Amino acid sequence: MRFQGQTVAVVGGGSGIGKAIARQVIAAGGEVVISSRDGAKLDTAIAKFATGRALPVDMTDAASVAAWAEALPEIDHLVISASSAAHGPFAELPETDLRRMFDAKFFGPYSMAKAALKKLRPGGSITFFSGVLSRRPGMNCSGLGAVNGAVEALTRGLALELGPDVRVNCLSPGMVRSDAYAGMNPKARETMYDATGASLPVGRVGTVEEAAEAAIFLMSNTYTSGVVLDVDGGHMIRQYAQR
Ligand SMILES: NC(=O)c1ccc[n+]([C@@H]2O[C@H](COP(=O)([O-])OP(=O)(O)OC[C@H]3O[C@@H](n4cnc5c(N)ncnc54)[C@H](OP(=O)(O)O)[C@@H]3O)[C@@H](O)[C@H]2O)c1
Repeated sequence: MRFQGQTVAVVGGGSGIGKAIARQVIAAGGEVVISSRDGAKLDTAIAKFATGRALPVDMTDAASVAAWAEALPEIDHLVISASSAAHGPFAELPETDLRRMFDAKFFGPYSMAKAALKKLRPGGSITFFSGVLSRRPGMNCSGLGAVNGAVEALTRGLALELGPDVRVNCLSPGMVRSDAYAGMNPKARETMYDATGASLPVGRVGTVEEAAEAAIFLMSNTYTSGVVLDVDGGHMIRQYAQR
């Protein structure tokens, strides 16, 4: 019951890793507020949890962020797993796609953290999300690696600036079976999971529950701040990908 009496806002809490985090917070006695753009999806998740509150937001829309912050109750922890990504060869990926990704994965979380500050109780924490590509590049993912690197730099800067009242950390997942890949052809998705898993020391890709456990640690451990925590099955030490 380590979250007894605490409220955790999970932006991205209607799907994937964010939803697993919300589930684990509830199981540990906490209250959750889950957010993303799709209100119906959030309502379905809340109905399944049988507790908690849905507070829709579009992180890339300033008016929506302001309304979200206004409606947000006092919270102990803010977790921002929401994002969207763009991939493609450097020479071909339209710059507009990259700018949209920076809006969704960097400026969105940046604005949400800023807007939530006045609702964060002293002793609380903020958890951002990056990903392995910041430090272990992948083909056709240079832009995504760059935005992940920006989130990690922001984490360290804010940990310094917002302490001692608020701790700030970043969770960097490797490949995790999640709703993020729901739009893929199922066969291609399994092939991708198998190929990535085979290249990792643990021999498989991760689960949303495994990633969520790391977020629970970052929220609960009161001596952890300014950290980028890799939960990646050993991705950082895997064999180099073949061209
Ligand atoms: N899964 C992986 O393999 C993996 C690997 C490396 C890094 N990561 C990172 O880990 C984090 C969580 O990943 P995940 O797999 O849980 O992703 P996910 O299941 O796709 O969840 C992300 C959610 O973000 C929400 N979202 C997107 N744009 C938004 C916006 N502008 N405003 C508000 N919400 C928005 C979407 O919900 P709505 O459509 O309802 O808005 C989406 O369901 C992400 O930052 C991701 O980049 C994941």
